[in-house]
Amino acid sequence: MFFVMEKMPTYIIEHLEPKVYEWCFIEYKQISRIVGKKNLWITNTKNQTLNHYARVIPKSAAGLHLNNVCLLDPAAKKELTPEEARHFQYFVFGGILGDYPPRKRTEVELTQKFSQGTATRNVGKEQMSTDHAVAVVKEIVQGKKLSALKFQDQLEIHMKEGESMLLPYRYLLIKGKLLVSKELLEYLKKKKGF
Ligand SMILES: C[S@@+](CC[C@H](N)C(=O)[O-])C[C@H]1O[C@@H](n2cnc3c(N)ncnc32)[C@H](O)[C@@H]1O
Repeated sequence: MFFVMEKMPTYIIEHLEPKVYEWCFIEYKQISRIVGKKNLWITNTKNQTLNHYARVIPKSAAGLHLNNVCLLDPAAKKELTPEEARHFQYFVFGGILGDYPPRKRTEVELTQKFSQGTATRNVGKEQMSTDHAVAVVKEIVQGKKLSALKFQDQLEIHMKEGESMLLPYRYLLIKGKLLVSKELLEYLKKKKGF
């Protein structure tokens, strides 16, 4: 009996914040847990402490001359489907922290850096954190349709009595459970806001 081993795609996070803030670091660690260190590249940063979690490449992914690339952009016109997802070799995401209302930073700072013919897809129009967008793409690569996935809109974090923080983004639910790292919750409680 033969088994055809499909090659795992590479997930690329193009870091686009002025520095690797603690929040970014926690998200990148979570992405490494989701897709595995050997399938993750973090580009456009010289921060070598991230090499415990990914291959770190100081150059922009746009300068790496990669073929078979799909850019993930909430402003893209087409939605990513399982049929096409399994043919892409690289998925590139913006290492951008959420902003509300969204300022289309992905389109301006990521999509426009790549040549015009590069495939650009959304996974819905709602804004997700980078780690959740990666988790959704991984599910789609594994054959799930976006419409079959479950989400929660907004995350309320209870701080202390009477105080809470609302994150206005879309979050993936896996078996009814929210995919949020304990480390992020602790960090946000400690930070007490944005
Ligand atoms: C927190 S989002 C930043 C979005 C940014 N505010 C904007 O308006 O473009 C971080 C990254 O996750 C990915 N992402 C988040 N939601 C997405 C969606 N609905 N479709 C495709 N990619 C998404 C994109 O790669 C994006 O750059």
